Amino acid sequence: MEVTSTPDMSNGRPDTTNVGLRGITVADTKISDVQAEEGRLVYRGYDIQTLAARSDFEEVVFLLLYGDLPLDSEYGRLHHRLGERRQVSPHILELVRQYPQDLRPMDFLQAAVPLLKMGDPRPDDSKEAVRERAVDLTAKMATLVAAYHRLRSGLEPIEADPELDHAADFLRMLSGETPDKEVAHLLDVALLLHADHSMNASTFVARAVTSTRAHTYSAVAAAIGALSGELHGGANSRVMEMLLEIQEPDRVEGYIEERLSRGEKIMGMGHRVYATYDPRSLILQDLIRQLGGDRDLHWLKLTQEVEKSTRRIFRQLKGKDIYPNVDLYSASLYYMMGIPVDLFTPVFAMSRVAGWCAHCIEERFAEAAEKPALYRPLARYVGHYCGPEECTYEPMAERHQP
Ligand code: COA
Repeated sequence: MEVTSTPDMSNGRPDTTNVGLRGITVADTKISDVQAEEGRLVYRGYDIQTLAARSDFEEVVFLLLYGDLPLDSEYGRLHHRLGERRQVSPHILELVRQYPQDLRPMDFLQAAVPLLKMGDPRPDDSKEAVRERAVDLTAKMATLVAAYHRLRSGLEPIEADPELDHAADFLRMLSGETPDKEVAHLLDVALLLHADHSMNASTFVARAVTSTRAHTYSAVAAAIGALSGELHGGANSRVMEMLLEIQEPDRVEGYIEERLSRGEKIMGMGHRVYATYDPRSLILQDLIRQLGGDRDLHWLKLTQEVEKSTRRIFRQLKGKDIYPNVDLYSASLYYMMGIPVDLFTPVFAMSRVAGWCAHCIEERFAEAAEKPALYRPLARYVGHYCGPEECTYEPMAERHQP
């Protein structure tokens, strides 16, 4: 593991280079690699481009959790288990009915995931048990999202169909209709592309929780909270809200100029790690373009205008480049599929749960030589002391306003 230095205070001023853990390596991982300069993403050694073209989400779940591509029989078993485990017990569904129906769906999901511990398939703590739990969580999070949406829409939840692929069954449980193959395939690829992304904020949270030896349901619930923020997974819903506000291509330029000159951020643009295009945004863009039939590509075109204007105006204002990230193009894709805007981030979570769980396993069961410790970074105290050593505690009656 790379050892990184503590912040330098030698010139008397705090060094902010590593603020937000920027540039700090906190763990070794064999799960995925983000190659910043080349704009490449690799899962367990396989390029995301290849996986998007030739694999599917369920195979990627196996790859992330088990470390290699499955044999035919292993793939069949995982497909079967995911299908079976999408069934959520009537008892848990009854509890879901009791949740307020106006929660943000990510808040619902964060609150509901720990309920799944009640049906824990193997409540021991072996590596295989954590893998089983990971499959269970991956399967059931889709059902929870669909059920919550139907309940808040005044509809009854729909039972899972174990025969269908995970993406297709989610769309069916959401809308009540079996989706056409092309749409199901698009969601499948989108899930595959979101399944892991090295040490992003929510994965870091999942690993930090796991480092305390808390169970996987806790780690995943905490990660869902981290993902919900608009600088992370929440960006995809915010992108769609922006597109809906802009509406027409001739309004893009003015909108972006106004926001950027006020120092506001354009959601879906920029990335902490990539110094070029996020490869996932390119794949998604291609997928939307290839959509057959007479589908309306209005939102794709509007997104492309947002990208173009942001890049041009950002360069003028800051003298540097900015590129789209995965959320810029997933927004219009999900919208075209009919997924409600506030479910975009839960859909992201339904995919990333596979990566979170793979990281929980890595964190918990790393080889002896790489054994991680409890995450416990330092903070520099920049608060005040009243006296040379510490403040004097005055009884309340003797305190004076300064
Ligand atoms: N719109 C406008 N300006 C942006 C920007 C965006 N989307 N992303 C970064 N910038 C600007 C910042 O304002 C900052 O400018 P400054 O140096 O003049 O202060 C500079 O670029 C660096 O930004 P910072 O937020 O420190 O970079 P980061 O590496 O931490 O940023 C993100 C990573 C993802 C937080 C950032 O790009 C962002 O907020 N993007 C929008 C949210 C989003 O799409 N998130 C999903 C990420 S996958």
